[in-house]
Parts: sequence; structure tokens; C-alpha cells
Amino acid sequence: MADQTNRGAGVSRVVGSTDEISKGEPLVVDVDDEEIAVFYEDGEYFAVNNVCPHQGGPLGEGKVEDKCVYCPWHGWGFDIESGDHPHSDHSVETYSVTVEGDEIRVER
Ligand code: FES
Repeated sequence: MADQTNRGAGVSRVVGSTDEISKGEPLVVDVDDEEIAVFYEDGEYFAVNNVCPHQGGPLGEGKVEDKCVYCPWHGWGFDIESGDHPHSDHSVETYSVTVEGDEIRVER
């Protein structure tokens, strides 16, 4: 696969281009049957598993404030950098994001 590169611990994949994503408009991509939401906030890119650990809500459709995405179903918030839910032991998986040219790559 031309858009896949092995790098250290994980596999880096091109998931989209920078013109497909903007603040408040995350990109949801399917990587190996796993939905990943990619966010652009404060000049940085972040990626989390799109499936909310509460009841499976689509985090990529949630509102983001102060690097926290709020699930559209019941409002749980998760830090898009750490994946942590601030008031419980729940968390979402996060992924490393790099940008090369206009290509957005997610490592998993
Ligand atoms: S499914 Fe996300 S808060 Fe309930």
C-alpha cells in the first residue's frame, strides 16, 4: 500500500489532506476497520478513537472546546491530546498525528 509507512512502534498511514480538515470540522476516517476522528485545534492535529467508551457515540461529531471533545450523545468530554475523561477512569485511545506537506498521517 503506497500510503503506508512502518515507523518504529506503529504503522503510519495517510488518512487525508490538510485541506479536508479545519477547526471545528474534524475528519473521521476508517483505518483497519477502526474509526478515528482527527481534529485540528490551535494549530495542532490530534486523533482519537471515534467511538465513545460510554455507549459508542461518534466523538467526531462532538463539539470541541479547549482541546476537549464532548460526545454528542450524552456529553461526556475527553481530552483530545491525552484521551482522558477528567471525572472518571474512562478514556479514549489517542494516536500520533504527523503532517508531511499536505498529507495527514496517523500512527497506530
Ligand atoms: S455515548 Fe458518549 S457520552 Fe454517552
